Amino acid sequence: MSKFMDWVDARFPATKMWEDHLSKYYAPKNFNFFYFFGSLALLVLVNQIVTGVWLTMSYTPSAEEAFASVEYIMRDVEYGSILRLLHSTGASAFFIVVYLHMFRGLLYGSYQKPRELVWVFGMLIYLALMAEAFMGYLLPWGQMSYWGAQVIISLFGAIPLIGDDLTQWIRGDYLISGITLNRFFALHVVALPIVILGLVVLHVLALHEVGSNNPDGVDIKKHKDENGVPLDGIAFHPYYTVKDIVGVVVFLFIFCSIVFFFPEMGGYFLEKPNFEQANPFKTPEHIAPVWYFTPFYAILRAVPDKLLGVIAMGAAIAVLFVLPWLDRSPVKSMRYKGWLSKIWLFVFCISFVILGVLGVLAPTPGRTLLSQVCTFLYFAYFILMPFYTRLEKTKPVPERVTG
Ligand code: HEM
Repeated sequence: MSKFMDWVDARFPATKMWEDHLSKYYAPKNFNFFYFFGSLALLVLVNQIVTGVWLTMSYTPSAEEAFASVEYIMRDVEYGSILRLLHSTGASAFFIVVYLHMFRGLLYGSYQKPRELVWVFGMLIYLALMAEAFMGYLLPWGQMSYWGAQVIISLFGAIPLIGDDLTQWIRGDYLISGITLNRFFALHVVALPIVILGLVVLHVLALHEVGSNNPDGVDIKKHKDENGVPLDGIAFHPYYTVKDIVGVVVFLFIFCSIVFFFPEMGGYFLEKPNFEQANPFKTPEHIAPVWYFTPFYAILRAVPDKLLGVIAMGAAIAVLFVLPWLDRSPVKSMRYKGWLSKIWLFVFCISFVILGVLGVLAPTPGRTLLSQVCTFLYFAYFILMPFYTRLEKTKPVPERVTG
């Protein structure tokens, strides 16, 4: 075996990569619950790719046959229903995992110097993931697939001058049709997975270049032993690979319970109107995107003007990209930031959740007002950040991690 590895290493840096990224990658010893979600995101990504490839074997991307082919997968293909539900539940699981992963970043200032690029690559993954989920949702060709895509694509029509041409270019037709379905299929199955995989590699490479942050936000590279190993660091393999297996087991237990017993999750993971085939002549009573898009959908609806609403929705995502440059705090972790940062993070998270709930519900004057307040607070968190992070009194940061 070692002779074989010598032969490989003379031609390909296999051992070097193993050491650089696993057995000699020293991660802070105080990772907590929130640090499970990076490896879980990788797990869900693999689940989506594997189940997606097998679904593609029995799915037909045409307006005439798509809906029936999904029914065929659910009823006739061996293990087809499990494959499909692993994929549809996996989509929601992906967003739950990624939202918790991003929250960890906000909590411990993981986006701050020198990890700005880790964050920016993460945000690009998030954008690609949203596009991937949106296009995948058209494929079953149900009522909500059709009308959800109709609502979102028509938003581009609000852009002055080029709006109408742009929507037609995206659809490839005067209305959503089999042509749209075909191109979304190509993008969902080939183009975007490649982009996401590439970005994940860049994301992890950027992280391993500077090293992981931790719940204390202290730099473990400041204190090293005589061999250059950080005193507060432990080898990723075997310590965190084994620890991550615990996270994987707990996650799979919850995930499989949902896949096998509550795959529709009360209409949140699989929406009820999508059990009916797409019908361009029948608009569903109430159109709402899947839960993971609803905070942004609520921001869109909170603004009375269509164009301004689209701009606000775009800005809500864009502002996350510049987060590393908005936080001027001398400390990273929320443990040592002042109470203003803590309150604002709390307000931001609550507003995001309320917006998510409002985005599912039909608008009423009261709900619209609430969504306007939450939209205001959402943006205030970012706009005021350069001020409150500089003004507030921070606690002294310990030299070494506190465990
Ligand atoms: C497919 C989606 C993603 C995958 C597979 C992924 C994977 C990972 C992995 C394996 C780690 C190292 C382990 C850990 O710290 O948990 C990590 C760290 C990190 N990720 Fe992601 N990630 C994804 C999406 C995102 C997104 C959307 C963001 C934010 C916009 C993000 C921001 C970060 C940050 C800031 C770190 C460093 C955390 C620290 O050191 O404290 N990631 N990611």
